Amino acid sequence: MADPKKLFVKTYGCQMNVYDSERMSEALAGEGYVATDTAEDADLILLNTCHIREKAAEKVYSELGRYKELKAARPDLRIGVAGCVAQAEGEEILRRQPLVDLVVGPQSYHRLPDLVGQARGGARAVDTDFPEEDKFARMGSRPKAARGPTAFLTVQEGCDKFCAFCVVPYTRGAEMSRPVAQVMSEARDLVERGVREITLLGQNVNAYHGAGPGGDWSLARLIRGLAEIDGLERIRFTTSHPNDMDDDLIAAHGDCDKLMPYLHLPVQAGSDRILKRMNRNHTADSYLRVIERLRAARPDLHLSGDFIVGFPEETEADFQATLDLIAAVEYGSAFSFKYSTRPGTPAAERDQVPEDVKAERLQRLQALLSRQQRALQDAMVGREVGVLFEKPGRMPGQMVGKSDYLHAVHVADAQGTVAPGDLRRVRITASGPNSLTGALV
Ligand code: 5AD
Ligand code: SF4
Repeated sequence: MADPKKLFVKTYGCQMNVYDSERMSEALAGEGYVATDTAEDADLILLNTCHIREKAAEKVYSELGRYKELKAARPDLRIGVAGCVAQAEGEEILRRQPLVDLVVGPQSYHRLPDLVGQARGGARAVDTDFPEEDKFARMGSRPKAARGPTAFLTVQEGCDKFCAFCVVPYTRGAEMSRPVAQVMSEARDLVERGVREITLLGQNVNAYHGAGPGGDWSLARLIRGLAEIDGLERIRFTTSHPNDMDDDLIAAHGDCDKLMPYLHLPVQAGSDRILKRMNRNHTADSYLRVIERLRAARPDLHLSGDFIVGFPEETEADFQATLDLIAAVEYGSAFSFKYSTRPGTPAAERDQVPEDVKAERLQRLQALLSRQQRALQDAMVGREVGVLFEKPGRMPGQMVGKSDYLHAVHVADAQGTVAPGDLRRVRITASGPNSLTGALV
């Protein structure tokens, strides 16, 4: 038998890309490709790219530049660009970077084996359509090999919200939801393969409305359905929009034991003037009311958010309103960014905030967020939490897992009684810079 061909995939950006990379690797396994960790020995390099901010997109071109010598030494090497840069730039990538053999958008992954075939035959292939057919149905079922205790499962893609700063509605297209039966069967398969925790993914996951028995199912209904799968211990979901947090989803945080007490609910800014210019369609107050209701349902809920500083026309007073909102919420974790101009989005045309002002605001915002994050983490000391163990720690006789609230937790286990995939009660004894330490109860 001929040696298997080697595939090197490099993933940028969000968790949805992590999921997509897995699915692309699986699809190419059917064509005889096995994964490798280094570009140097690969027959096919795939960059699964992110277009959300300017820097993310630029990274792709600088990475491609590094493959020049590899390709000169090995003319059989094929290089592909997938993901949101592929979608946004299409054929432009081929013009700008002659090393690239194929470009495939996120809605066309089911056509990847075909495109790779064309590229191996010497053609330069591009597919950035938004095809009618369901790519998930076309990709078929996933392999049965055993896997780790946690997995992502994309249930929804695309976005119809058109926030004024964001490329997602253009790169990922209109909102679509996978049918309930497809999601359920993929989840059951994952659990059979050893998965104990599933994170449901979507650019707007709480807008999920997949076709199911008796009509469209909401995300809350899907979560309750998934919670009935024996062996599935934990469910999470990300990313959500405040306007799609319906009553049932809020209630599920109180009455569905498998739904973890952690929610990523981006608000982006705290000033109503800026929220309006961002086309967010909610106010700071309506966001805070959603959080109040969530906390009434689940008092120990940890919140996480996304923030943009220096959105066009943001004044110091607007920025102060963001700091006030953060102070009111008390986040367990957060992601914050300087506004980055994205060509083709409405905000790109407006009066920009100077770079040094953005940088200074980001620093102040991140200082407040890290104080909050640390305070909430320190408050875990003395408490008992569930921990899903994932792997051995760096020290001998140590295991690492994630708490219900998504903190990394280290536990001493000299006897080796804990295995990856075990969900155990742990008493937290100490809080360090990036993780907690605890003892098995
Ligand atoms: N500039 C900066 N941050 C952005 N995000 C999306 N678009 C931009 C942009 N143009 C951030 C938002 C979003 C997260 C995924 O990325 O905070 O929630
Ligand atoms: Fe982008 Fe707004 Fe849609 Fe989120 S809700 S993907 S920020 S347009």
